[in-house]
Amino acid sequence: MTVGASHINKPFYIGGVRLPNRLVQAPMAGVSGRAFRLQARRHGAGLTSTEMVSSYGVHYRNTRTLGMLALGAAERPVAVQLFGSDPGVMAAAAAVAESAGADIIDINMGCPVRKVIKTGAGVALMEDERLAARIVAGVAAAVSAPVTAKIRSGARSRITALSLAPRLEEAGAAAICIHPRLGDAGSKDRADHSVTKEIVDMVGIPVIASGDVRAPANAADLLKAGCAAVMAARAALGNPWLFADLLAERQPHPRPPAEVLGEMRLFYAGLVDEAGPELAGRAMRKFYGWYLRPFRPPAALRDGLRRAADFEEAAGLIRSLLL
Ligand SMILES: Cc1cc2nc3c(=O)[nH]c(=O)nc-3n(C[C@H](O)[C@H](O)[C@H](O)COP(=O)(O)O)c2cc1C
Repeated sequence: MTVGASHINKPFYIGGVRLPNRLVQAPMAGVSGRAFRLQARRHGAGLTSTEMVSSYGVHYRNTRTLGMLALGAAERPVAVQLFGSDPGVMAAAAAVAESAGADIIDINMGCPVRKVIKTGAGVALMEDERLAARIVAGVAAAVSAPVTAKIRSGARSRITALSLAPRLEEAGAAAICIHPRLGDAGSKDRADHSVTKEIVDMVGIPVIASGDVRAPANAADLLKAGCAAVMAARAALGNPWLFADLLAERQPHPRPPAEVLGEMRLFYAGLVDEAGPELAGRAMRKFYGWYLRPFRPPAALRDGLRRAADFEEAAGLIRSLLL
């Protein structure tokens, strides 16, 4: 891939919000808290996104849910992703998210988790296009921020994104993000970006492509097909350098262990700032494996990290066994 071959570094707009480039950090439940978003921003992501936030939790002033709306100035522009199925509750929650500093309100129409779909939310909305459109219209009327929707190819076995996307545009969506897998697809199935490309040809609003964006060639292909931006999720787990590599249009490559440990320390400091030392230490356990994946950590290290009382003990183990 030659440097500058795609226009990933060109700014673009979602509604009136200017995004400095075409690389978006994906919403990820249990992952994309403030520390993760700040890290993605530091490495160049043009738009950050919260994990999905329950509109009911916002409505009922659930403390943990409201904590997810603690947005920092340094992570902006930031999208707050809401899930729910009641247009009134979604509109009210969107207004709260906007006053908390959200630049964009994104509506989750892709989550396949049973707990979510049994309430009619997430990917279940793809089976009720009228309701999905009513939610977009209601939220758009309640906030001045642009409203976007993140959809899949369809809920179950049938591709419905091609009929839903234009309806969401008509209802007032300022952009569509498509993760082109069916709701019942396995996570190992590849994203089918032929669906993404069809949507690009159908709607006049920006389309953001999510799924298997791991290397400059994936991003370039999607941008060339007319997508306004690309989104990175799993490939950025433990590898925030992915954002910088994609923007520089160079092949992502592993960083030396000392640099990885330095980045882990920065990320941990962000988690402490976000949640306090105890929760930060617990949350880090989920991330060690992702950061250390390129080094194939020996069993002794994996075991030690599982048992480490805090980050300093974990960092000591990493230093002694990898550096
Ligand atoms: C751990 C994890 C949590 C996720 N949580 C959300 C979420 O809260 N909202 C959402 O719209 N998508 C969520 N997704 C889907 C991603 O945003 C993305 O669309 C999907 O992983 C495909 O992109 P990838 O191939 O780059 O991973 C999640 C994915 C992962 C791996």
